[in-house]
Amino acid sequence: MCGIVGYIGANAIKKTLLDGLKELEYRGYDSAGLAVMQGGKIDSFKAAGKLSALVDKTADFDPKGFAVGIAHTRWATHGKPTEINAHPHGGAHSAVVHNGIIENYQTLKNDLIANGTKFLSQTDTEVIVHLYESFLLQNKDPFKAFELTIKAIDGAYAILLIDETSPSTIFFAKKGSPLQIGEGVSGRYFASSDAPLVGVCENAIYLEDGSWGYANDREAKIFVGDAPISPRKKPLPLTKSAARKEGFRFFMEKEIYEQSKVAGETLTSRLNADSARLDELPEDFLTGVISLRLCACGTSYHAAIASSYVFERLAKIEARCEIASEFRYRDPLLRANELFVVISQSGETADTLEALKMAKKGGLKTLAICNVDNSSIAREADATILTRAGIEKGVASTKAFATQMIVLWLLALYIAQKSGAIGKDKLAQEIAALRRVPSALAIKSERHDLIRRLSKRYLHGHGFFFIGRDIFYPLALEGALKLKEISYLHAEGYPAGEMKHGPIALADSELFTIALTSETLLKEKTRSNVEELIARDSTLLAIGGDRFALADDHLPIDERDHPILEFFEMTTVIQLLALEIAVRLGNDVDMPRNLAKSVTVE
Ligand code: G6P
Repeated sequence: MCGIVGYIGANAIKKTLLDGLKELEYRGYDSAGLAVMQGGKIDSFKAAGKLSALVDKTADFDPKGFAVGIAHTRWATHGKPTEINAHPHGGAHSAVVHNGIIENYQTLKNDLIANGTKFLSQTDTEVIVHLYESFLLQNKDPFKAFELTIKAIDGAYAILLIDETSPSTIFFAKKGSPLQIGEGVSGRYFASSDAPLVGVCENAIYLEDGSWGYANDREAKIFVGDAPISPRKKPLPLTKSAARKEGFRFFMEKEIYEQSKVAGETLTSRLNADSARLDELPEDFLTGVISLRLCACGTSYHAAIASSYVFERLAKIEARCEIASEFRYRDPLLRANELFVVISQSGETADTLEALKMAKKGGLKTLAICNVDNSSIAREADATILTRAGIEKGVASTKAFATQMIVLWLLALYIAQKSGAIGKDKLAQEIAALRRVPSALAIKSERHDLIRRLSKRYLHGHGFFFIGRDIFYPLALEGALKLKEISYLHAEGYPAGEMKHGPIALADSELFTIALTSETLLKEKTRSNVEELIARDSTLLAIGGDRFALADDHLPIDERDHPILEFFEMTTVIQLLALEIAVRLGNDVDMPRNLAKSVTVE
């Protein structure tokens, strides 16, 4: 969501900025823009829609030599995704890009308007540039004017600002939205995530909340509050190869296929012969912990729910699930002996990050299960277990979900070992099953072919119900989420046993039921629920072991002797089903409309 790129240097600035934005496309956006300052003059370009529109707009713009530039992909929050509302926003002599939300923008805007400022856009961002220019008018010092601007705004932000009166400088500030600075042989870079920096910079500075300052061709000066700081640089991966499609049609498809491989990485050095190992957790980390609070958004929330069954079943520890945006404002009761576990692919989701901060403030021990090292959530939590899925580019999360589930299962076993809740034989069985996860996640080409063929029958109807019981209920939620995210068809996930309490009223031949029918958990109970829907003529696609005599379609699952392995195999099936339906509908699978990969606003 909203990507920021900045560059100070002499290396083909337009291409550098556009390439950087391209790397951030996966975050989701609906308009884009860039501003380049050369010889004390700013040129600014913006376009609604995809980056190709900005590429067209800048076709005849070809600055050469040293320049300073800022660029942005916008995901609309205040004001429609139009060209006017796209960033950069300009004043008389400066331009700004911003990720986040300025909460007090309306008051600031009213004051500025009262003093004669004209606003062009409906955005909150535009106040930054006018505020800066009004402070500059008063005290003539750009650095001071920027400092006063940052002090005047409330909310969440990553900001880059350039000004013709400081021709080789970028002013920056970060609070609540990600921003990092990279130094490469060809200059100094800014970006919202590692992706634009990999391959051009060896290391990066991950700015802490409250950081602000300026950078030019000679130096980057960073302050926290009024004090200058010297932050540590952290090494970046050296190549971008992991971020290419490698022959697949979409990043999402590549990532579905990658799950088997990355599962191996998630498990590396975390399994002993007969126990789970989590070296990230200090020896006494669980001392005094009597229950778990699992908190997340979106797909990560579904991993939380699925794992809550596993925690209670295997580790005999209470596990409650929280949607982060609800948790934040409902004055939740926090108990000191709870471990607060946040789950996040990106590590930047604003609601999850704030929930984590609340829990910390409330005195809880905190643990992050996260895919991005150095992300805000990973840095904030007391301990982090990395999921090691690699960069996930498809907006619809796939391999992040699978690896989160592996880590959560490992954590359940780790807790069970420590507390003695699990017997030796049972633990050995679970460890043996965990070793089989990579094979349960492997995609068989005949299976994919079958899903591709079946998908043509599921392009219409008045809705989809994904149903399942036990851990297959949260998987049903995830199946429905995947489908609606990329196909734009209406889909719901429901506990199979709950259908009769209302939703079954919708059943007819145009209601598509996707039933996750486990062989290992509540087999007969689930089958009875499915029969109830068949009896009401709902069109049924069963995903699971044994075929139903009356199912319209059946996608068999080979795993039959461990529920979590069945869960993983079914995961790949529901992901591919959503993908193939969306492809047939002609949708942009990797960048679905209205969605963002990393939701850094609340
Ligand atoms: C966005 C993404 C979802 C993701 C959710 C939580 O809505 O589109 O795919 O599940 O954020 O993201 P996180 O990075 O915290 O797991």
